[in-house]
Amino acid sequence: MMYLLDTANLEQIKRAFDLYPMSGVTTNPTIISKENRNFIEILKGIRSVIGKDKMLHVQAVSTKAEEIVKEAEYLNEVIGGNLYIKVPVIAEGIKAMKILKNKGIKVTATAIFTAEQALMAAVSGAEFVAPYVNRIDNITGSGVNVVDEIMELFELHNVDAKVLAASFKNVQQVHEVALTGAQSVTVNAQIMDKLLEHPLTDWSVEQFIKDWETVYGKGKVTNNL
Ligand code: E4P
Repeated sequence: MMYLLDTANLEQIKRAFDLYPMSGVTTNPTIISKENRNFIEILKGIRSVIGKDKMLHVQAVSTKAEEIVKEAEYLNEVIGGNLYIKVPVIAEGIKAMKILKNKGIKVTATAIFTAEQALMAAVSGAEFVAPYVNRIDNITGSGVNVVDEIMELFELHNVDAKVLAASFKNVQQVHEVALTGAQSVTVNAQIMDKLLEHPLTDWSVEQFIKDWETVYGKGKVTNNL
């Protein structure tokens, strides 16, 4: 499983990359707008924290293929590193994916609500497809079922693209998506923490320390007795 952080907030990115096995960062225009400062500075800041090898997924905002391609070329030049251009699965987006594939620019197909959208994007050259799990759940669909269908279609049709499941609101959604075999998830900083949290884990750790200190003394650790 590859974990990505769905934020443009540098403090959250620094903390998560310090603690957890992060593979990259995803942004979208809404996430970027929350930072309310220069777009390129935000991206350069993220790149300097995560390094050039970790994935950074950045969305193009144009809705015409030629314009999406220009945005992708610009971002690839200015930001560089292991960069993925997020392109929505509208018809012009699919056209852009074919062009970007030929130019060797990596694409993550985004705003995916159905498995058929994911399949067409993958066939058009997208390396990742991003189904919006919680947004699907919110329209009385099943985000997990859509991810499951995508996994099944990719196997049936021998498609190389990977699933980058997105739009999560709770840990159970992440858990069910992980059980489908989806290769990656992008989650916000709070869910990243919650994937680990358990009161009994905290209780067990406290109990171990208490028992240890009754014999070896307060503040003593295994290499300091
Ligand atoms: C990925 O970056 C998606 O755009 C994002 O996960 C959507 O999440 P939301 O539905 O919580 O806005």
